[in-house]
Amino acid sequence: MIPVNTPLLGARELELVSECVRDGWISSVGKFITQFEEGWARYCERKAGVAVANGTVALELALKCLDLAPGDEVILPSFTIMSCALAVLRHGAVPVVVDADPETWCMDLDALESRLTPKTRAIMPVHIYGHPVDMDRVTAFAAAHRLAIVEDAAEAHGALYLAARGTDDERWRKAGSFGDVSCFSFYANKPVTTGEGGMLLFDDDRLALRARSLRNLAFGALRRFEHEELGYNYRMTNLQAALGVAQLERIDAIVAKKRQVGHGYRERLEGLPGVQLPVERPWAKSVYWMYGLVLDEATGLDATRCAARLKERGVETRPFFHGIHAQPVLKARGLFRDLRLPVTERLSRQGLYLPSGLTLAERDLDQVVAALREVVR
Ligand SMILES: Cc1ncc(COP(=O)(O)O)c(C=O)c1O
Repeated sequence: MIPVNTPLLGARELELVSECVRDGWISSVGKFITQFEEGWARYCERKAGVAVANGTVALELALKCLDLAPGDEVILPSFTIMSCALAVLRHGAVPVVVDADPETWCMDLDALESRLTPKTRAIMPVHIYGHPVDMDRVTAFAAAHRLAIVEDAAEAHGALYLAARGTDDERWRKAGSFGDVSCFSFYANKPVTTGEGGMLLFDDDRLALRARSLRNLAFGALRRFEHEELGYNYRMTNLQAALGVAQLERIDAIVAKKRQVGHGYRERLEGLPGVQLPVERPWAKSVYWMYGLVLDEATGLDATRCAARLKERGVETRPFFHGIHAQPVLKARGLFRDLRLPVTERLSRQGLYLPSGLTLAERDLDQVVAALREVVR
C-alpha cells in the first residue's frame, strides 16, 4: 500500500533527539525550543515565535490573545478542519463561515462583505492544502473593517504569495507572514513535523509575550504561583523541538520535494477527463501539502467509492474536509441552520487526496496515477 504520508526523519533528527535524552532536557525547557521558535520565525520573516503542543491549540491561543468577547464574530472558511471552529467556540465567540472558491478551494473572498456585521472582530484565512489565500484582498478587507487577521498556515509551510501586487512593494512572502497572529501545525503529516506540535508567529512583542505566558499556566511575574489570568498548559517539549530544528536545517529541500510531487502529479494527470486538479495561481507557489482531486459527478464516482477502489489497487487516500457548516455537533447547537454552501458540500462529497509525502519516489507517482486511470474511466 502506498500511504498518504510517511514522515521523513533522518540521522540529524536522531542526533538532536538523542542529545535531549542524553542530557536530560526532555521537558518544555531546553535550547531546542528557543532555536525552533527563533528559526521558524526567521524563516517566515516574523519577529517572534511561540511553540505549542499542536496546531489546534495554536489557533485557540491566537484568538485568546485577541481578547474576543462572547458573541464576537470571526469569519472563516467552512471548508477547513474542525480546529478552526473549535478555536472560535472555546472563547464563546461565533464562527461565521463562507463557502470555498471552486478552484483554489480556499475561502471565497467575494462572500466576505455579505458576512460582515457590527460584531465581526476577526478573519481567519486558511491556506488550504498548501495553496495560499489571496492575502492582498484579505489584508485590505481587514484594514477597511478593523479586523484582526488570524492566519492559519498549518498546511502551508514554505508556500509563497506574491504580495502587494502592482505596487513598488510587490514581493514574494511566506505563508504565515500576514496575520496579526499566524498559526502552524507540525503534526506528523505536515512538511515539517515534530510529531505533534504547533507555533504562533507575531510581529507584536506584547502579543507574543502574552501567548508565551498563557501557554505556560500564566505564572505570576512577581510570585510564580500567584496567577492573574487563567492560562493553559500548551507547551511543546524540547524533544519535539529537536525534530523541528533538524528539519528546519533542510527546509528548502523539503519544500522543493513537496512542489516536485505536486508538479509530478500534474504532469501525469493533466487532461484526465472527470478529474479536477489543484490549481496554482500566478501569484502563488503552493507547497502541495496534500495533492487533492475533485471527481466530476459524471464519472459515477464520489470520493468514498473512488477511495475504496484505489485501496483495492494499493493506494491509500483521505477524503476532503467535511464543511464546518455541516458538522452534526455544531448543527445540534443551533449553528448554521439551513445554511447551504454548495461548493464546500461538493468538495466534501467529491474530493479526496492522494499520497503526497516526502518519501514518494517517481515510480510511486506512476503507480498511483495508473491506479487512478483504471478507476476513473
Ligand atoms: C488548516 C489546519 N488548521 C489546524 C490544524 C490543526 O493542527 P493539529 O492537528 O496540529 O492540531 C490542521 C491539522 O491538520 C489543519 O489542517
